[in-house]
Amino acid sequence: MSEKFTIADFKKARSEGRKITMLTAYDYPTAKILDEAGVDSILVGDSLGMVVLGYEDTVKVTMEDMIHHIKAVCRAAKHSYVVGDMPFLSYHIGKYESVRNAGRLMSEGGCSAVKMEGGKSIVEDVKAIISAGIPVMGHLGYTPQSINLFGGHKAQGKSIEKAQEIINDALELQEAGVFAIVLECIPYKLAALITEKLDIPTISIGAGPHCTGQVLVTPDITGMFRGIERKHSKKYADVGGMIEYSAKEYIREVNEGIFPAEKNSFIIDEEIIEQLKKTN
Ligand code: KIV
Repeated sequence: MSEKFTIADFKKARSEGRKITMLTAYDYPTAKILDEAGVDSILVGDSLGMVVLGYEDTVKVTMEDMIHHIKAVCRAAKHSYVVGDMPFLSYHIGKYESVRNAGRLMSEGGCSAVKMEGGKSIVEDVKAIISAGIPVMGHLGYTPQSINLFGGHKAQGKSIEKAQEIINDALELQEAGVFAIVLECIPYKLAALITEKLDIPTISIGAGPHCTGQVLVTPDITGMFRGIERKHSKKYADVGGMIEYSAKEYIREVNEGIFPAEKNSFIIDEEIIEQLKKTN
């Protein structure tokens, strides 16, 4: 694959009008495939909680979970720029703890940047983290860690007040120094307006085609996560179906004595086995 995608390439893409591609990964083999496929950036999202760990939402994901999975992804990413999600409550207690946790994702996990959900209310934490030399990606609109405030997975920013709030938050985050902002599940014309107003790239997930880049959850696009289908996502393959097929065929072949065949087995000299039979 080509050389490493860097933070400078995010800026360059924005100024040159080039699209940025981002996908999530949580493990070494998937990250290796995405990296070799040439995705610009890999997000180790806290969607980990739902699509890998089987929780109902993302709020149960811990710092230890994130570090463990970021490490695996970073071992594979030779080209893609790896961003690690700051989990629920890791940046809400105080600036000291926010910087320490962001630093752990980078120094222990190995990612190049962290992502944080929220606007005005987290700006001071964002500034402190950036001052420590850690790049931050913002995340506005539907922010999954606030699911209990939203009352479910719902598009945001449809009223004039809420839309204005998201615009203001985006401007504040830019001012605080974030290098890009994920816009999740907001009307595409609002996302287009925000993208036009900002100098930094916007990355859409359910925010339409006019953002600088796009991000999707890999288990959704590969059919690996079969719990929920989202309007904003697209299934490009049915890897989940292929795993199910493989498992069913394996079960059938074992039960019917087809697997393992001779070619799957190891051999021993006939004389040795005859001698062993005599003494056992
Ligand atoms: O956790 C995640 O995968 C995310 C994306 C939905 C942007 O935050």
